[in-house]
Amino acid sequence: MNIGIDLISFHAPSYVLDLRILAEMRGVDPDKFVIGIGQERMAIVPPDQDIVTLAANAALPIVDKAGRDDIELVILATESGIDQSKAAALFCHKLLGLPAACRCIEVKEACYGATAALRMAAAMVAARPHTKALVLAADIARYDLASPGEPTQGAGAIAMLVSTRPRVLALDPESGFHAEDIMDFWRPNYREEAIVDGKYSTRMYLTTLLRAWKNYHAASGRSLTDHAHLCFHLPFTKIAYKSFERLCKADGIPLPPRDELERLIDPALHYNRQTGNTYAACVYEALASLLDHAPANLARKRIGLFSYGSGCMAEFFSGVVQAGYRDHLFTDTHRTMLDSRTPVTYRQYEDIFNYGVPSDGADHVFAPYRGGAFRLAGIKDHKRRYEAK
Ligand code: CAA
Repeated sequence: MNIGIDLISFHAPSYVLDLRILAEMRGVDPDKFVIGIGQERMAIVPPDQDIVTLAANAALPIVDKAGRDDIELVILATESGIDQSKAAALFCHKLLGLPAACRCIEVKEACYGATAALRMAAAMVAARPHTKALVLAADIARYDLASPGEPTQGAGAIAMLVSTRPRVLALDPESGFHAEDIMDFWRPNYREEAIVDGKYSTRMYLTTLLRAWKNYHAASGRSLTDHAHLCFHLPFTKIAYKSFERLCKADGIPLPPRDELERLIDPALHYNRQTGNTYAACVYEALASLLDHAPANLARKRIGLFSYGSGCMAEFFSGVVQAGYRDHLFTDTHRTMLDSRTPVTYRQYEDIFNYGVPSDGADHVFAPYRGGAFRLAGIKDHKRRYEAK
């Protein structure tokens, strides 16, 4: 039985900061951001959007296309949770009009959460093949202003419908994973911004990539050349090149010439370059970018995926692109959404960054900003009120 991603949809907020503006304000050469770390723009989240609206906005095209009736599980992966108790998936469940006979949960393991969710969803549909699962991942990446992590901030959400008749990517059963208790990046409950040891986190990302890869190779017998393309977790896009280089070295394969390297890696980087880090959504945003941008037809080609969550969890796994997949992508929606974003000035970025969600329990009504179909309309009695526009 094939199990995998039936539909995949991506959503980013409607505001954006050009990193050249940030570079100028920080007195940094813009090439450091654009070339050195590989980021062009970062998504800016207005006060009436949060991980719930981002995730629901990502999922709407999927449920509109595939219907709602068979969805028995909604898992939302995030490390930007809005409540210590209630699952954000329940808010999305209501906004999307999903059936009441449905399980809704939230999962967390930094940027790895969505991969755990995808695996759980696959196991559920394997046990109940007539049902479907909706996997959502949404995050808002925040670091301290003027810190090294600042240019790698971002925001966005991914939605994936998981079924036994996947029209986009059938998952291979084998995967390689690795767990290790480390403190490379974390966010205590009392902080809005993550704490990160940037260099250590990058080192651990690359170290665990090799461990997960070794375990994947042992489980599947596959080598690098068995994969037409690779999608990596992308805290910043330059890391994809560093990762591929490590894997080539581990497999004893010479690094391809630059143009071949770009052909292999670049199609998966377009969206992340324009949004910044979307944490749990990142590797699937890379997959959406690859499917939307690869010039060659990828039908029946195997794609390798590497998911990394600080703390840390790493998993290398793969899937085979399905025949006719191009008919089931949301490529035009993705491109129009990204192309029509409103640029913000540095001052607007800082104002939005410093804006704090009210926590006094009073009645707050939020002005409407540009965004998708759903927005956070206000907060009253410590309850978030969402609405469809
Ligand atoms: N032109 C071109 N390139 C330039 C340049 C210029 N003028 N100036 C610098 N560069 C290059 C540097 O040579 C360097 O390239 P290499 O890495 O290939 O050597 C690159 O730009 C970055 O420069 P620095 O190393 O000096 O950058 P930094 O110290 O300011 O920080 C960072 C970089 C550590 C990634 C930082 O942005 C950070 O802390 N980010 C947040 C943490 C993070 O993303 N970690 C990734 C792994 S953890 C993870 O994956 C989970 C997650 O999502 C957070």
